[in-house]
Amino acid sequence: MKKRKKIITVAIDSPAAAGAGTQAKLIAKHYNLFYLDTGKIYRFIGLLVLKKKKSYSLIKKKIKKIKINDLQNKNLLSDSVAISASIVAKDKKIRDIVHQFQQKCAYFPPLKYAGSVLDGRDIITVQVKDAMFKFFITASLKTRAKRRFKEYKELKKKITFKEVVKNLKNRDKSDRQRKYGPLKKTKDSILINTTKLSRKRCFKKIKAIMDRKLHN
Ligand code: C5P
Repeated sequence: MKKRKKIITVAIDSPAAAGAGTQAKLIAKHYNLFYLDTGKIYRFIGLLVLKKKKSYSLIKKKIKKIKINDLQNKNLLSDSVAISASIVAKDKKIRDIVHQFQQKCAYFPPLKYAGSVLDGRDIITVQVKDAMFKFFITASLKTRAKRRFKEYKELKKKITFKEVVKNLKNRDKSDRQRKYGPLKKTKDSILINTTKLSRKRCFKKIKAIMDRKLHN
């Protein structure tokens, strides 16, 4: 695979709704990096499956042609799509299909960017093992559920707080215990717990870590 040389690579793993996406976007903006929310790809496939379009060849074709804009689709944000995504994400064949696309984004981002930042569940462990920066972002279940519930309310989704907690718990379990690409913290990644941190303070912490290395 073609790799761009001397680029900044940031890999982030996290359980759902821990604030990884928010931090990844702030990192991308500040350091001019290409951002890929890899969960959105699994959600994209999860939605296809909900629409009864589960054929590996069709999914492969769709992923080959996928544009970053396709991942902005608001329909990807529902809880039913998230659950479907975590089910398809257990499938090794699906993970292999998605792998190439992620590798290209991580190692060969568009030239106008100084590098890439990817977030997901297996970014540090599988996708970008040699990333320059590795962050494991987490928060308590209660905090994550509160944040996700607030987002759903803003999107006018009909769901109770109890359902959000239950679904996050189930997804956590499935994502941590599955056979392929399970979520786990590696020894070489930096733990960022966002439970008691505002997004600004959290980014300040990450920025300090990155600047120390980049300006040395
Ligand atoms: O991050 P998000 O909640 O959008 O991810 C949806 C689902 O996609 C996760 O629960 C997980 O099962 C799957 N996923 C994955 N590997 C990634 C990113 C997401 O298996 N790198």
